[in-house]
Amino acid sequence: MSNHAGKTLTSSGFYVSQEAPIHSDNPIAIPTAPAPDILRCAYMELVVTDLAASREFYVDILGLHVTEEDDQAIYLRSTEEFIHHNLVLRLGPVAAVAAFSYRVRSAEDLDRAVAFYTELGCRVERREGGFTKGIGDSVRVTDPLGFPYEFFYGTEHVERLSWRYDLQIPGELVRLDHFNQITPDVPRAVGFMQSLGFRVTEDIQDGEGVVYAAWMRRKPTVHDTAMTGGDGPRMHHVCFATHEKHNILAICDKLGALRRSDAIERGPGRHGVSNAFYLYLRDPDGHRVEVYTQDYYTGDPDNPVVTWDVHDNQRRDWWGNPVVPSWYTDGSLVLDLDGNPQPVIARSDSSEMAVTIGADGFSYTRAGDEKDALPAWKQGEGAAVSGSGSAPEAPPAPQEFKLGNQL
Ligand SMILES: [Fe+2]
Repeated sequence: MSNHAGKTLTSSGFYVSQEAPIHSDNPIAIPTAPAPDILRCAYMELVVTDLAASREFYVDILGLHVTEEDDQAIYLRSTEEFIHHNLVLRLGPVAAVAAFSYRVRSAEDLDRAVAFYTELGCRVERREGGFTKGIGDSVRVTDPLGFPYEFFYGTEHVERLSWRYDLQIPGELVRLDHFNQITPDVPRAVGFMQSLGFRVTEDIQDGEGVVYAAWMRRKPTVHDTAMTGGDGPRMHHVCFATHEKHNILAICDKLGALRRSDAIERGPGRHGVSNAFYLYLRDPDGHRVEVYTQDYYTGDPDNPVVTWDVHDNQRRDWWGNPVVPSWYTDGSLVLDLDGNPQPVIARSDSSEMAVTIGADGFSYTRAGDEKDALPAWKQGEGAAVSGSGSAPEAPPAPQEFKLGNQL
């Protein structure tokens, strides 16, 4: 069990506290310039290597709406969106993320973004005409964590399609919900994002104080982005919300009917963290897309911060279903402002996969369960199965597991 001094154990098995102090031994200096007032995550620019294949995935299968397209890029939006786009698919040589883009409250916040990142010594580029169609004056930076971040206020308004039921499918994606970033040093990343005005809503820690992941928000939901511990900077996923759980099941049914079930990496299921219902897909380039619904309101200033023990087997999946190794190990490269992939730095803290799956890891269902109490068949793909009487053949070695393979 973890040492969670100062936190209150809830009847649900996790801890709550006020703005959990996550300490970094290697903090990024906090600029004296005020941070821009960020409203929400607004869009991601993804570089894809086959525009037709990506169009089939995001438009024909997932049903995102095309605002505009040409032979180099497709601009897509979700049903409730009134700004030009939530996702840009841009043709390029290497699958990667070109921008995590946030909308700010006013045009003046772009000046604040320039001053904030300039003081940090980051590369900053501002374009009055925007970097993508439909978006006005924009600031792009390579942030101190190595991620390409964008800020904009002005945008072309387009029709909100909520009332156009004739255009909607059973698995309709209604909003962009969040990004998820992979970074080697989560406390350092969290401290920096707090200086940018983000609040922590949930995190995963162990008893030694290692932070494995943290969820942070500007809009009043569980997150606009999360920092996931791993080799980075890389992008873990981009996430769209549906209205209901059944919409997610409809996406699974459609993928099955199309013989595209190999696009399903993990789920559907219920998260412990965020309490949302989820599904993880992989697009034709391997970019991970989450579909998610029904997290909770977090907008009060004293919103309780939730801390999960890394060994709680219900933190990633409330039903205790194993997390596939690819979900922990795979991520998309991110680009610098010249379009070159950023070098990836290895995580030196413990890996969540190593401490929870397989021979060196353990997870519990009930607090106080003995180590290794979790049945072998619950311990995840790649875990050794022994003594259950139900495994007549030796299980494949962990390295033999690939995306889509199940025990
Ligand atoms: Fe997510």
